[in-house]
Amino acid sequence: MRVLLIHGPNLNLLGTREPEIYGSATLAELEDRCRDWASDLGIDIDTHQSNHEGALIDRIHAAIGVCDAVIINPGALSHYSYALHDAIKATALPTVEVHLSDIGAREEWRSRSVTAPACLAVVSGHGPDGYRQALELLAELGGSAAHQVPEPL
Ligand code: DQA
Repeated sequence: MRVLLIHGPNLNLLGTREPEIYGSATLAELEDRCRDWASDLGIDIDTHQSNHEGALIDRIHAAIGVCDAVIINPGALSHYSYALHDAIKATALPTVEVHLSDIGAREEWRSRSVTAPACLAVVSGHGPDGYRQALELLAELGGSAAHQVPEPL
């Protein structure tokens, strides 16, 4: 199984960005941990981060036929990007949305994710461990997840 692990705006600054909320691990360290967890589960990981909505959409499209699933932390785009929602749905790839912080326990505008309904599951507020949970979920679903049929857009 090959999983695209994709991060949205400002997540390149993990480690120094509001560490009291997002923790002290850098994005590279987080990706390394994910690679270790994934290899224990027999999963290969491709990683990508961008601060640009269109670049994220292009990368998600590029996963079609290459990756079996996606793990995405869309950053603030979660709260308003219908384009990202549609991109996730359009690929028909099983996708898990992960947030390091508990988006339901912060500012009101953060509590709604418009990308979440396009995803199989959302893991929020578990820090880096949320990515492990997402990987385990995808590993459990295995081949059947790859045949998920999207609802019409
Ligand atoms: C985040 C939560 C978002 O609200 C925020 O804009 C981020 C990070 C998280 O991982 O907790 O950039 O997705």
